[in-house]
Amino acid sequence: MVDYILEIEHLTKEFPGVRALDDVSLKVKRGEIHSLCGENGAGKSTLMSVISGVYPKGNYTGKVFYQGHETNYHSVKDSEKEGLAIIHQELALSPYLSIYENIFLGHMNTRFGIINWDIYIKESKKYLNQVGLNADPATIVSKLGVGKQQLVEIARALSKQVELLILDEPTSSLNDDESAKLLDLIVEFKKQGITSVMISHKLNEVLKIADTVTVLRDGKSISTFDVKAEHLTEDRIIKDMVGRDLTHRFPDRTTVPGDSIMEVKNWDVYHPDYHSIKVVDNASFYLKKGEILGFCGPMGAGRTELMMSIFGHSYGSRSTGTLLLNGKSVTLPNAKSALNAGLCYISEDRKNFGLVLIQSIKTNISSSSLRELSRLGIVKADRETREAEKYVRDLRIKTPSIEQLARNLSGGNQQKVVVGRALLVDPEILIVDEPTRGIDVGAKAEIYDILNDLVKKGKSIIMVTSELPEALGMADRIYVMNKGKIKGMLTREEATQEKIMHIALVE
Ligand SMILES: Nc1ncnc2c1ncn2[C@@H]1O[C@H](COP(=O)(O)OP(=O)(O)OP(=O)(O)O)[C@@H](O)[C@H]1O
Ligand SMILES: [Mg+2]
Repeated sequence: MVDYILEIEHLTKEFPGVRALDDVSLKVKRGEIHSLCGENGAGKSTLMSVISGVYPKGNYTGKVFYQGHETNYHSVKDSEKEGLAIIHQELALSPYLSIYENIFLGHMNTRFGIINWDIYIKESKKYLNQVGLNADPATIVSKLGVGKQQLVEIARALSKQVELLILDEPTSSLNDDESAKLLDLIVEFKKQGITSVMISHKLNEVLKIADTVTVLRDGKSISTFDVKAEHLTEDRIIKDMVGRDLTHRFPDRTTVPGDSIMEVKNWDVYHPDYHSIKVVDNASFYLKKGEILGFCGPMGAGRTELMMSIFGHSYGSRSTGTLLLNGKSVTLPNAKSALNAGLCYISEDRKNFGLVLIQSIKTNISSSSLRELSRLGIVKADRETREAEKYVRDLRIKTPSIEQLARNLSGGNQQKVVVGRALLVDPEILIVDEPTRGIDVGAKAEIYDILNDLVKKGKSIIMVTSELPEALGMADRIYVMNKGKIKGMLTREEATQEKIMHIALVE
């Protein structure tokens, strides 16, 4: 008899106006790696939230069995006690606490009301070792990049003696190298008997480590595959995800870039806290009109810092260097002046810089363009509505209405809202930082089409991306950064994954 650690029967979960899960049934074998795939808004995160008690019983219909008994969780704490841990899509650490405090927060032993921090610092080192994060446990979490924060979350799960680990898009903010390490880690956990359920849009990773794959579409469980026995392919998964064959992943482009429109010379950026440390060191590059320019490199290479500092000094304590727009030297002291000069930046960190979660889709989309949308300071409501509706349609944002609060959208759909807002600004130069993070394969193709249309109209795009296939498929030229420096540039014809990696790593 097969031993199932988790069984879900006829689960239905509704939100106002949305049936997020519609009669879902699913079984997870003990000790396996089970992957959950599906388009943005398919219901993956909601399903995991039901399992882990984020939505208490009574909030859904159907049954969840964990370790053979029907669950009755009132909160995540209840499921944690039984060895279930969930790593959410949006990181959930306390940014102003240290690594070790984050690891042990909420499950520390106190003796006589006193917490022995030394023990926890030592213990946390053990877990940090296990996840391969070489950092001082006393480091404040907000000082870590997203990828490292992810590892802290996993260390936290380990510290709770996890038996079923749920990972919601764990590698979406990691680069190839870090992703590979994390996947190895999940396989290592499997050897130790830990069962994992991994949600991912990266189908190559899914096929690499998963034993079983379940596809959700529109809240329904569509299919379950045994990866090895059925020689599962990416295309087969995609077919069930989108309900049709997807013909092209990267659209063809026939346009040829024009003259240089922006030039950056000898650009230095200094760390926001440690003012003598350079996070970007003497970077020089140029962007042509109608070009898509890729920026690749490992995490922490300085790509985001470079772009944010160009965009009105939005990063760092100080940045120096020359910025030329159409051959004229300009200074852009803040984000507003950068917007006025025709630049727009889409942050990789949508939660902190991109979206106002407690506002509606409509307000989020229009907020950067208020000046455009208003006359004499009054926002023209009908135009705002029209524009928001247009982007919800074009980007296929899954929502009952444009009045929906951003926080109620699925992760990928939140990202689409951020993209929609930048498009409405209609900038001459659009800087997109990890634009398709957490976005499903179908919607990715839509975003690529939109970027292609923009360059066709003569707009220029800088695309910071950790996904090399995306850079290779979309960029006319690719700059490779590492350790704050631009290490080299490749044209579309020259570029290969190996060459990019090689350039990044040469000293
Ligand atoms: N708190 C909420 N209130 C209202 N609707 C919600 C809420 N949470 C999720 N939804 C809706 O339920 C549906 C499923 O969302 P869910 O987050 O589970 O999708 P997902 O498969 O995880 O997508 P993604 O790949 O984009 O993360 C979406 O239409 C979403 O907008
Ligand atoms: Mg999700």
